[in-house]
Amino acid sequence: MQAWSTLVARHVRNPRASLLHYGDPMGHRPFREAVASYLRTARGVRCEADQVMVVSGSQQALEIAARVLFEPGAPVWVEEPGYVGARDALAMAGARLVPVPVDASGLDVSAGIAREPEARGVYVTPSHQYPLGVTMTAARRLALLDWAQRGGAWVIEDDYDSEYRYESLPIASLQGLDRDARVVYVGTFSKVLFPALRLGYVVVPADLVARFAAVREAMDVCPPSLFQAVLADFISEGHFGRHLRRMRILYADRRKALVEALARELPQVEVIGDAAGMHLVAALPPGARDRELAVRAAGRGLWTMPLSACYLGPARRAGLVLGYGGVTEREIREAVRRLKPLV
Ligand SMILES: Cc1ncc(COP(=O)(O)O)c(C=O)c1O
Repeated sequence: MQAWSTLVARHVRNPRASLLHYGDPMGHRPFREAVASYLRTARGVRCEADQVMVVSGSQQALEIAARVLFEPGAPVWVEEPGYVGARDALAMAGARLVPVPVDASGLDVSAGIAREPEARGVYVTPSHQYPLGVTMTAARRLALLDWAQRGGAWVIEDDYDSEYRYESLPIASLQGLDRDARVVYVGTFSKVLFPALRLGYVVVPADLVARFAAVREAMDVCPPSLFQAVLADFISEGHFGRHLRRMRILYADRRKALVEALARELPQVEVIGDAAGMHLVAALPPGARDRELAVRAAGRGLWTMPLSACYLGPARRAGLVLGYGGVTEREIREAVRRLKPLV
């Protein structure tokens, strides 16, 4: 925050006229270059700055992508269970959601093909599935790209928290494997910095850039410039890399504290998901009523997300999605102790 506020002050005290004007609907050029270079090295994304569109978080990325890629009523696969934010954005833009089950290898591509072979697109979180935390296998990635290529469908890859893997190196993006420009890659600074920043990006296949820019311009003209300029400096001056390295250690410790506290206090729950990201799922024994549990927990000041709320259709499993990014190890241990009598 100290480095951040110095950079904010620098840009506010000496504003460049170009940053006070309407800007490029794709975003501030130096920032797009910093993002493209980061994505190439850290995430194996194949992109140029020209393909990077700056958005106000993944949510806007999904809304713009859906408007460009899908006709109203077009069937689109979504992960089951999956991220409610993505489902809401796609549905609001007129897509017809088709839930496709997720297993230990990620989205079950053959189940999707059996259910809706002609779907026009798919929303996936291959690096760290939300909420189950599994990583999509190489075989599934190739099967998904093959299906998309054959049917002319679009793959929306949401790579929301892939910087954080604690027991292995980050897994390269699905976009990097794509030889046919079928993948629209979405990322966000909500997890690596803070969500109120409302800064994210989309890497758009080159021949769709003009259509994305046109929709964006009609929607909100261009992204606000100040924090793009600040973040471009934050990245190029090395603060971002340092921040990530520090946060990886901090969140790994918090995850470990949560896993240990759950094993100690609530041995009946099963922790599912890879050691990655900023959340895990505490799966409850069959028949458990996770929504009621989440309400009881809220009554004791504990904010949890019932796993069943992440299903579009009937829930196959009950559990609690627990976020550990913004709480100290002491608070985590105390929260699990408070949760114990409610489960
Ligand atoms: C799967 C997933 N994608 C994206 C986001 C971030 O969304 P945004 O960039 O709109 O803040 C989240 C935040 O919880 C998430 O869980």
